[in-house]
Amino acid sequence: MRVFATRKIFAAAIEELEREGIEVTIWKERRGLSRDELINHCQSHNALLSIGGQKLDKQFFESCPHLKAVVLHSVGFDHVDITAASNLGIPVGNTPDVLSKATADTAFLLMLSVSRKAFFHYRRILENSWNFFEPMANLGRELDGNTLGIFGMGKIGIELARRCKAAFGMHIIYHNRNRKPEAEEELGARWVSFEELLQQSDVLSLHAALTTETTGKFDADAFGKMKPDAIFINTARGAMHDEKALTSALESGQIWGAGLDVTNPEPMDATNPLLFMENVAVLPHIGSATIETRKRMAGLCVQNLIAARKNERLPYLVNPDAYER
Ligand code: DGY
Repeated sequence: MRVFATRKIFAAAIEELEREGIEVTIWKERRGLSRDELINHCQSHNALLSIGGQKLDKQFFESCPHLKAVVLHSVGFDHVDITAASNLGIPVGNTPDVLSKATADTAFLLMLSVSRKAFFHYRRILENSWNFFEPMANLGRELDGNTLGIFGMGKIGIELARRCKAAFGMHIIYHNRNRKPEAEEELGARWVSFEELLQQSDVLSLHAALTTETTGKFDADAFGKMKPDAIFINTARGAMHDEKALTSALESGQIWGAGLDVTNPEPMDATNPLLFMENVAVLPHIGSATIETRKRMAGLCVQNLIAARKNERLPYLVNPDAYER
């Protein structure tokens, strides 16, 4: 089997594939491929290892119906037209669960950074303005006993809730389509309506998948219902928040701060006003960027590709219906 990989990943993963008789071609240029370039490369390969948020749309799948598998080096698959893949019987694999802790750590890091204005204070040093002590200037806020609101209580949300409860005794509320008895039992988490989540959270963190229902969910109306001292955290997908509305809500003091690991659009423009606000911390989508997690993600991709070579069902599969065609 010949696999086209859109980025370099750990050498050990590539070696494992090669030991299984899988030939891997790695795209080495420091730029994403256009759809046509990707299609051209896929013509001479029978599987794709897609690393990063490259859009895989209907046209891509219809131009590559021969692919035995499309293996994503991500848990999210909102950039992929899953229906088109399934209609052509192409299984799509992803990397579930292994990045939950690293992503929750990133949300926790942002929450703390915003609450203590850490990025702003770091910039003061760079700007040479650490020159006078003002006891009441640019103060942060403490999180002890605050209420953490989780939008989308899945594995990442639970990990963040665990961290916040252990570190700050935070009270946990959440909004989900389905109740999560395990989170209620372990963390005393309380299910609330979306309105209540907005109104009661001191820190509101997004951990849902990007769907038509969650796209643009955090708009001017939503920010308007939040507490004036609330911190908004997004480590899920930038398209869930309206960035202009978020900027206005921060500028007008409708909410207190924001921490973003995902932006809308991505990458964020270097002149974006959010980057210069005191109560804002922005990271360039590094949720899963630890050595341990990226190795685990590569490991799941290897397992998926080996299964595809053996004509077996992918163990980490997004679209079971691909096998029903
Ligand atoms: C994922 O795996 O979906 C993360 O957001 C990294 O892209």
